[in-house]
Amino acid sequence: MHDEVIKIAVLAGTTRERRESIKAAHYVADFGRRLDGVEIRFVDPKDYYFPGDGNDPEGKDPRYTEVTEWADAFFIVTPEYNHSFPGTLKRMLDSELATYNHKPVALAGASNGGWGGVRAVESLVPAVRETGLVVMSWDVYFPRVQDIFEENGQMKPEHVERYEHNLGGLYKELISFARVLRQLRTTN
Ligand SMILES: Cc1cc2nc3c(=O)[nH]c(=O)nc-3n(C[C@H](O)[C@H](O)[C@H](O)COP(=O)(O)O)c2cc1C
Repeated sequence: MHDEVIKIAVLAGTTRERRESIKAAHYVADFGRRLDGVEIRFVDPKDYYFPGDGNDPEGKDPRYTEVTEWADAFFIVTPEYNHSFPGTLKRMLDSELATYNHKPVALAGASNGGWGGVRAVESLVPAVRETGLVVMSWDVYFPRVQDIFEENGQMKPEHVERYEHNLGGLYKELISFARVLRQLRTTN
């Protein structure tokens, strides 16, 4: 019935050299790769370059433009920096506009404390909403992210059941929205 592949761009939120949240971002991407009918592309902001602020042609990275055109949906994994999300992520998001419109986005937060980046996610909601992305009504959190994964990025066994459950539910929702919104974009 649903024979068209859903294409999801998973965005990591920071370029920090010692970033822990990158493990959570890779986990989210790898989880998506195991789902039927889903194609995942991983966006590491370290691999992109945005010369200046804004979304004028000279402020874009064409490779990021291409990813956002390609994607039916987005999954952003952000760490919390000073009760918000990193400037790198804002810069990257700001560089496009039309290619986000009427596409769903799921959010995940990560922090080294017990809140799991909830304030980063809360501050991200109005920003992504303004771009035309449609935000899912729940999120996934990685509190004490440094304790959830092994050094090599593997999730520790005691956490797997919880994240499989939470992430499975959120991906299901994201994919459902992606199908419906793709219909909307093609009929509009
Ligand atoms: C500039 C900066 C600001 C931070 N501010 C917060 C904060 O407001 N709240 C919080 O829970 N953690 C904060 N942290 C710690 C992060 O939660 C921690 O680094 C965690 O590992 C996720 O970020 P990472 O991917 O950069 O490692 C901050 C880290 C940095 C580098």
